[in-house]
Amino acid sequence: MRKHIVAGNWKMNKNFSEADDLINQLVEKLESTDLGDTQLIICPPALYIELASDQSDESYFMVGAQDVSEHDNGAYTGEISADMLENMAIDYCIVGHSERRAYHHETDEQIARKVDQLLKHDLRPIVCCGEVLEEREANKQFEVVKRQIVDGLFHLTAEQFADIVIAYEPVWAIGTGKTATPEQAQEMHAYIRSLIAEKYGAEVADNTSILYGGSCKPSNAKELFANPDVDGGLIGGASLKADDFLAIAQSF
Ligand code: 13P
Repeated sequence: MRKHIVAGNWKMNKNFSEADDLINQLVEKLESTDLGDTQLIICPPALYIELASDQSDESYFMVGAQDVSEHDNGAYTGEISADMLENMAIDYCIVGHSERRAYHHETDEQIARKVDQLLKHDLRPIVCCGEVLEEREANKQFEVVKRQIVDGLFHLTAEQFADIVIAYEPVWAIGTGKTATPEQAQEMHAYIRSLIAEKYGAEVADNTSILYGGSCKPSNAKELFANPDVDGGLIGGASLKADDFLAIAQSF
């Protein structure tokens, strides 16, 4: 059966001492926090991955990166390869976040190549999808998400797909304080699972964790996670405070 996952996407936040402080707080609080079967993941900026992975051995969270290059290695200034990430002893990497799609013009084809890079290096991709407000207002959300999933992921074999985590993040809900209703989240998650079932069969679909992201906080996590197809969250702002992040992780 699929895992419950709560992942924190720190985005471009925290200087070194603030990052160190947050990781220490998490480690300390986790000693007395029961997360049940929920897998906790933190995705700090790349500069702090080592800081986080050094601590993750002794405590209860896994570490992910926020992005990866679509290329192997070579003359790509500023980029980080999957090979480098693999060497940092991390487990996950976010790809196709809407901020990368919007500000760095990432396409579904590039996202597909990033997914391939990660799988080649035994890292589990957390693949983001989601529509912008105009698309939802035009009732195009299903069409948009289907294109992102099909073009970004459906070149994989069923065996490869078993390592994929999906995050549905409606762009209009990210950092806006405007959360999708539990019904909107469930409707889209069930739709995504039906696409996976159609392509790879019911077993693969049942085993795929589909996370919700977009203004998820302690006050709304319970009602979102209560839905049968919502398997956890990809948390932005609220993952920057240890208490809020852990409260969300305890919302199943
Ligand atoms: P917020 O939780 O800040 O809305 O961000 C969600 C997100 O983009 C996580 O990847």
